[in-house]
Amino acid sequence: MMKKRILAIIFTIFLTSIFSTSLPVLAADESVENIKSKGTLVVGTSADFPPYEFHATIDGKDNIVGMDISIAEKIAEDLGVELEVQDIGFDSLLPALEVGKVDIIVAGMSATNERRESVDFSDVYYIGGQNIVVRPSDNEIYTSKGDLNAKKIGVQTGSIQESLAKDQMPESSIMSLSKITDLILALKTNKIEAIIMEKPSAMAYVANDKDLATFDGGFILEEDEQGAAVAVKKGSSNLVEAINQSISTINENNLTEDYLKEAGQLLKESQGPQEQTKTMFNYWNYFAKGTGYTILISVVSVFFGSILGIILSLMRMSERKIVRIPAIAYVEFVRGTPMMIQIMFIYFAVGYLINIPALASGIIAVSLNSGAYICEIIRSGLNSVDKGQTEAARSLGMSKQTAMRYIIFPQALKNIWPALGNEFITVIKESSIVSIIGVSDLIFQTKIVTSLSYRGIAPLAVTMVIYFMLTFSLTKLLNYYERKMNHDQI
Ligand code: ARG
Repeated sequence: MMKKRILAIIFTIFLTSIFSTSLPVLAADESVENIKSKGTLVVGTSADFPPYEFHATIDGKDNIVGMDISIAEKIAEDLGVELEVQDIGFDSLLPALEVGKVDIIVAGMSATNERRESVDFSDVYYIGGQNIVVRPSDNEIYTSKGDLNAKKIGVQTGSIQESLAKDQMPESSIMSLSKITDLILALKTNKIEAIIMEKPSAMAYVANDKDLATFDGGFILEEDEQGAAVAVKKGSSNLVEAINQSISTINENNLTEDYLKEAGQLLKESQGPQEQTKTMFNYWNYFAKGTGYTILISVVSVFFGSILGIILSLMRMSERKIVRIPAIAYVEFVRGTPMMIQIMFIYFAVGYLINIPALASGIIAVSLNSGAYICEIIRSGLNSVDKGQTEAARSLGMSKQTAMRYIIFPQALKNIWPALGNEFITVIKESSIVSIIGVSDLIFQTKIVTSLSYRGIAPLAVTMVIYFMLTFSLTKLLNYYERKMNHDQI
């Protein structure tokens, strides 16, 4: 027991030290050269923020569009490279930039002094203003932020709205969610009374949804909180300069106006009121893509997890301490930390050393996690076989290996099999956490459908049914094999 605790402490210290060492800033600024030699500019955004950035179906295909994306396109064009857009949760954007998952952030992000401590910003390209979004029936009751004191207010996690709520509405209770689309749903289902949102975004949501209303929040903003700018990794002054040049051409030619108009048009076409008459069947391709990814992640992870689990369980049963202890430590550590942190750790921290794409990071993290559980499944399966069996086999002259292979393991399999099936089912459900790093699994796709359809409950219901169909058919399949296995052995 004591040993385990010490191990856990060592691991924690190890991890915190990795996280806290500030990484050295490169002496020479090669930010622009790097992007040019890659040939692509990777832009991080949080596409829940019309008209800045949002999902839209164009010619039956899902696209991320909006003013910010047009700006990013212009920057990429001026640099002479391709543009790649990554949709990440707003609160994960800064870490993604710091570890180099993305080259720049264009997400309507305010260039606050606080953020300037960890990243650099371009010139401001747009000034929005702060609104409050409410249900239309409350539009007369609430007219300013003062009326909402002591009420439940929704804000996006990590946004300046979160601090505005804390500082200027100290009596209210705050609900922070990472997607604005989820906040809208919370508002519509009376979980919160209001949402603080950037004005252009509030207007965009209200224009396309008769169940929402908005007014100026009357917030007082510090100078540095007012405008949206492009964020880059600290020390990339050449990149900042290049971006500023693009921004100044945009300003000279009043291009933001055009971008906004275009965004408004796309928003109306793909998320307008006509969308609200559509049924969930219209979004089947979104669900299908998500289901495909969820199945892929689960199958691959359980496969690699099983290999890892077998190796770990063999290690655990070894007579040599030096082999046994690492396996025990691994299992304890993995089981003792949340999978969400493990996924983020692989994606961000390990990804700092080697750049692993989101899908691969997700699969690696889920496999590593599952391996620990599968190890325990195998171990307890083997333990459940009576000791007498080994003794009998050995006294018949069988070697240890032969006894394990022909006597113990076949009996253990009967216990291992159903537990392994359960693990598979767990992985199908729990792998949904990979959506936080932007893998388009079923949960991620559900959120897109929520934002496209302006409906919160229907997409959830569809997703629930899909998950159930997946797990139920798996159960049936496993039962079939289990019966067959029992039959074979009689
Ligand atoms: N301007 C606010 C901020 O920087 C909110 C930005 C939210 N952006 C988004 N893509 N959801 O905190």
